Amino acid sequence: MSTKENILKKLKEKQGEWASGEQLSRELGVSRAAVSKHMGTLRKEGYEIKSSSGKGYRLSCLPDRIHPFEIRHGLNTTVFGQQEIACFKQTDSTNIRARELAVNGAPEGTIVIAESQTAGRGRKGRHWFSPVKGGIYMSLVLRPQLSPADAPRITLMTAVALAQALIASTDINIKIKWPNDILTNGKKLSGILTEISTEMDMVDYVIVGVGLNVNMTADKFKGELEDIATSLRIETGMEFDRSTLVRTVLEKFEQTYDLFNTQGFAPIIDRWKTLSGIIGKIITIDVLGKIHKGRVIDVDNSGILITEDENGKQHRFYSGDVTL
Ligand code: BTN
Repeated sequence: MSTKENILKKLKEKQGEWASGEQLSRELGVSRAAVSKHMGTLRKEGYEIKSSSGKGYRLSCLPDRIHPFEIRHGLNTTVFGQQEIACFKQTDSTNIRARELAVNGAPEGTIVIAESQTAGRGRKGRHWFSPVKGGIYMSLVLRPQLSPADAPRITLMTAVALAQALIASTDINIKIKWPNDILTNGKKLSGILTEISTEMDMVDYVIVGVGLNVNMTADKFKGELEDIATSLRIETGMEFDRSTLVRTVLEKFEQTYDLFNTQGFAPIIDRWKTLSGIIGKIITIDVLGKIHKGRVIDVDNSGILITEDENGKQHRFYSGDVTL
């Protein structure tokens, strides 16, 4: 832990009480000037720290920003979030930043997070709405031992992890919509964009991009998003601490990924089916403007959606927009 992080840890341990500058410098083995300099840096990062010549320093408010220290504080993982957590105030797309890191050898578990994205990317070349302070825009670097044909399983696995993180963090009804949207009350809360790089016949790295609408108010979704998107705040009336949510997502992600690596895809797809509730439902699916209707029979081990039409004929879908 760096000196700055140690100072922050000590301020937090004081739980809003004063910490003397002299004591901090003695305990951490640094000069008073160094303590003061680190306090300045922490303030710039959004921590509100009061100072008083007689009493020292007091942490009065945590930043309304996703901060690596806050994520790591109490994070119960061994890989995800334990490597570099690159945080940007603004970037074009966290998936692009994560890919750059992966190309340069970043290990599995590396995370990229942005407060806002100027070119957030969704599936099928769509734009992902990424306003400042509203959501979580995060990309994870994975290096799974997988053949490229099995790589779509990572997306389904992520949807399971994300749904479980939201179930653990809220009381709202969470559903997975094929292939990988997280919905509540029929509106989208979260989406996943997985990008894969292969080498010969193995996966080299996978970038898992997660967008989660957290603290946006309803007025932010005016226009074309109004009927299709929502946020945790809109659904619950509460504001969420985004660093805590990131921590929960990383923990659920690691647990689900470990399950996938040790027991294979069967337990993952079982959970996916339970969380989606799609099996047996009548759906319409829009594939590049062509509409199909049918009853869902299964989602297979590659994430392919299998339906049966009114004549009993089976159809297999690799992608498309589903309406229940
Ligand atoms: C979708 O449902 O269409 C997928 C949306 C994925 C959005 C996230 S936000 C973080 C990461 N960076 C991006 O540019 N996209 C993903």
